[in-house]
Amino acid sequence: MCGIVGILGRQDVALQLLDALKRLEYRGYDSAGIATLDQGVFARKRAEGKLRNLEAALGEAPIRGSIGIGHTRWATHGAPTVLNAHPHVAGRVAVVHNGIIENFLELREEIVAAGGTLLSDTDTEVVAHLLDAERARGARPKEAVAAVLPRLRGAFALAILFEGEEDLLIGARKGSPLAVGHGDGEMYLGSDAIALSPFTDRITYLEEGDWVVLTRSGLQVFDAANAAVLRPVSKSSVTAALVEKGNYRHFMAKEIHEQPEVIGHTLSRYIDLGKRTTEIQGIESVDFQSLGRIVISACGTAYYAGLVAKYWFEKYARLPVEIDIASEFRYRETPMSDRDFALFISQSGETADTLASLRYSKAQGALIGAVVNVPESTIAREADVVFPTIAGPEIGVASTKAFTCQLTVLVTLALHAGLARRHLSAEAHADLVGALSAAPNLALRALQAEPAIEGLAQALSKAPNALYLGRGTNFPLALEGALKLKELSYIHAEGYAAGELKHGPIALIDETMPVFVIAPHDAIFEKTVSNMQEVAARGGRIVLITDEAGADNPATAGMEKIVLPDMHELVAPIIFALPVQMLAYHTAVFMGTDVDQPRNLAKSVTVE
Ligand code: F6R
Repeated sequence: MCGIVGILGRQDVALQLLDALKRLEYRGYDSAGIATLDQGVFARKRAEGKLRNLEAALGEAPIRGSIGIGHTRWATHGAPTVLNAHPHVAGRVAVVHNGIIENFLELREEIVAAGGTLLSDTDTEVVAHLLDAERARGARPKEAVAAVLPRLRGAFALAILFEGEEDLLIGARKGSPLAVGHGDGEMYLGSDAIALSPFTDRITYLEEGDWVVLTRSGLQVFDAANAAVLRPVSKSSVTAALVEKGNYRHFMAKEIHEQPEVIGHTLSRYIDLGKRTTEIQGIESVDFQSLGRIVISACGTAYYAGLVAKYWFEKYARLPVEIDIASEFRYRETPMSDRDFALFISQSGETADTLASLRYSKAQGALIGAVVNVPESTIAREADVVFPTIAGPEIGVASTKAFTCQLTVLVTLALHAGLARRHLSAEAHADLVGALSAAPNLALRALQAEPAIEGLAQALSKAPNALYLGRGTNFPLALEGALKLKELSYIHAEGYAAGELKHGPIALIDETMPVFVIAPHDAIFEKTVSNMQEVAARGGRIVLITDEAGADNPATAGMEKIVLPDMHELVAPIIFALPVQMLAYHTAVFMGTDVDQPRNLAKSVTVE
């Protein structure tokens, strides 16, 4: 949560800071601010709400200075007001922060007892005060940072400016990501390489506990013990073009439409089409034959990808899967051992609960695998084996292409496990890989349902509630459909296993309740149709999301339908995600909500 940026430039940096913050707005967007040093003295501008408010404020009264820091906020401590917006200044120090300083209350007391005055309700402001107090005692900026960092508990990425120091920017990371960008006579700090993509592709990723001293001519990195260390410079594959909207109205629309391509990219990394087999880098470290079980943990949409994978691993590899949402798993004290393969799924690779679950599992001796979209992320770096999704940067806050790429990776892992455990013969494995290779084309054809979905979305935008139903792998998709609708359109929606309906939720059904039933024509289609009849008998308005075979089935005659092409049941969870995403997207567009940045959300949830 929160995006931070710092620039040591050669000309005025305010507009560059703003540009970088636009790329970080996905991390939080309830207030924003920048501070520069104008002839050695702080100039600061902060605004409540979206970045455009800060942009307008800067348009009215620009600020100068060739060094500066910036922040876009997702509030944790203190309401999203101007006073709580970053940068926070105390005396000769200005700070922007991503994360939570857990011991801020005791630090606040100490500052107040020493005669300091805190102006905001944030945890961040204490950092500026502690640093300023060190400076007042005569410490140089670097010494001040070395003294204060060990006193901060919790998670943080910081960028710090010191008044009078025109060629000095200090950054620090613990639990929150921070990247250093190398320019020509310029240096940058950012929450991720995306923020820095217009300026440079030469990136140094700081390790956990590192802090860095930047001048225009270079950098010096220190570890948590304040010892100087070397960190490599790598070339980032994120280009500025990848993070533009192109001709689309929203990032989410662009990302939905990119799915045929990115599913294809991901597949080509995991299967050898010529040999019709899975070919997975790093998989040799997983001994599927002796494995006791797989333990999956993730949050939100990534968790639903894990739920689908449970069906796949159990069916195709006869491998037991235990799965839980990471915020529960991390505190459950689940017994684990070195016979467990613990798999963590995360688009950002920074989700705090998922990371904590990973660390718990590691401490228990499990082998750690990670399905991640950001290869430099903390989760990717702490895993024993990484299975990257090749979705490219996902900017829309609601996850779309990352989800289908997660599913794509997970299905190949399940098929590989099936072969390794000899539950699938080489022939069956090859057939399934062949079926999977149709996914990009099927995704393209699924997009053709968009005009029909747009029509339905208009009606849905008037409904106060909605239900999503599915059986088997369609149950997690029902959960995903409800989540997408809730987060984008703010319409209350629930996803249920279709068979569970009669155990309570059926009481909700009346003629005002739209019910979306996800049911390709598979082995359990008839069962789901029976559940639909139960809804129809109570006046519920059913919309069936099915394939051609399902649409042709006489039992579905007269129902409203979204029809996709026929497909192998193995790929259906990947492809049926698309209509569900489009439905939520178009409903939100009709309702006029902020599709790419829904209220109260952030893309990267780096706090508990
Ligand atoms: C919903 C959504 C979230 C994320 C969740 C996990 O559309 O995007 O539910 O899936 O916050 O995030 P990652 O995958 O970054 O760990």
